[in-house]
Amino acid sequence: MLLLIKNGTVINPGDKTEKKADILVKDGRIQKIAEKQSIKADRVVDATGCYVMPGFIDMHVHLRDPGLEHKETVETGVKAAIHGGFTTVVAMPNTKPVVDNADVVNYVHNKAYNIGLANVLQAGAVTKGQRGEVLSDIEGMVEAGIPGISEDGKSVMNAQLYREAMTLAVKYDIPIFAHCEDINLVNGGVVNADEITESMHLKGISNAVEDVIIARDILLAKETGAALHLCHCSTKDSVKMVELAKKAGIRVTAEVCPHHFILTSSDLKEDDANYKMNPPLRTKEDVEALKKGLKEGIMDVISTDHAPHTTMEKKMGLRKAPFGIVGLETAAALTMTELVDKGYLTIIQMAEKMSYNPAKILGIDKGVIEEGKIADLVVFNAEKEYIIDPNNFWSRGKNTPFAGRKVKGMVMATIVGGKVVYEK
Ligand code: DOR
Ligand code: ZN
Ligand code: ZN
Repeated sequence: MLLLIKNGTVINPGDKTEKKADILVKDGRIQKIAEKQSIKADRVVDATGCYVMPGFIDMHVHLRDPGLEHKETVETGVKAAIHGGFTTVVAMPNTKPVVDNADVVNYVHNKAYNIGLANVLQAGAVTKGQRGEVLSDIEGMVEAGIPGISEDGKSVMNAQLYREAMTLAVKYDIPIFAHCEDINLVNGGVVNADEITESMHLKGISNAVEDVIIARDILLAKETGAALHLCHCSTKDSVKMVELAKKAGIRVTAEVCPHHFILTSSDLKEDDANYKMNPPLRTKEDVEALKKGLKEGIMDVISTDHAPHTTMEKKMGLRKAPFGIVGLETAAALTMTELVDKGYLTIIQMAEKMSYNPAKILGIDKGVIEEGKIADLVVFNAEKEYIIDPNNFWSRGKNTPFAGRKVKGMVMATIVGGKVVYEK
């Protein structure tokens, strides 16, 4: 099977190059990258006027399967992924049951394999049932192929237990993905703690809720040597701490989600829970620090924290609705519109943060466009403008604060293992 992707501008974050070329794919792998290839292929994708980028890798999604299939399933989740240009996603373990043993890991991996549209890597929970009491079967899950461990949805508040988990992460050579939130400091908060939310009579979540656990986890990573990846950083001090930790040679990486680098609590609409997520929308100062952190390479990754919930659940308002918004089908366009188009990131940096760096952190041989590599690719039209409409999402979740927003940047085709799994 020969696939030819013609006339695109190939973005390779591997050697930081951008060049006009055709890509010939044979039996799932990139065979040749060169201009004006005239070979007769079985299928041709016309990438005229588009970037051809390494398929996006989302290190942080919630597929809700098993047990919460009314919100999303592996199938609807991977469909949302390829619709958004993602070829690999890491699924978080806060499902029902929690992914805390090899059986549940195998269940998700088998399901994804049978669907076959995108690569799904299931992360394992740090503690059994995410109850924060005893460690899960980390060894068994490593054998089943988890890319890392995470207690996402909460923090392991027992620092001794978390240190033990980090020691095991070192032993098995896997990263630990940290959701940083001191549950005692949250104290029932639902949105950021600031004047705006106070005037709305809503209980606040201060920056310290996140920052104290980031500090703790960095110090534990220093002590254990674990590869710590900080999930959904939202505060200005998170950027400072990551910068300091990196300078000190501690193995730390960090991700930022589009909602945190675009929106602030001043965007909150009276009781619209599509603006409710954890961590919450912060202030302008935080947003500016996150954008600067991304630009300067302190913050490594753009992930979505794709968190589908039903419309009914989100109708319960800011006080009662669950935290979380969907992100797989808006991330690339939002990043293009808000960061690349506005000069914060180059297109190569976008490819680094959405593919190259995630691949490095996960230890997978992806994230570059080079001959011999598996052909996970996205054809992206950076000029195409449209209005975000959740009715067009392939995800079961329609919960987004970006509905009605004008963006630039459309996924035209997604290629996984040399197969065109989506074409506009
Ligand atoms: O907003 C969030 N939603 N943050 C989390 O940490 C969990 C996630 C979810 O599972 O819904
Ligand atoms: Zn989280
Ligand atoms: Zn999450």
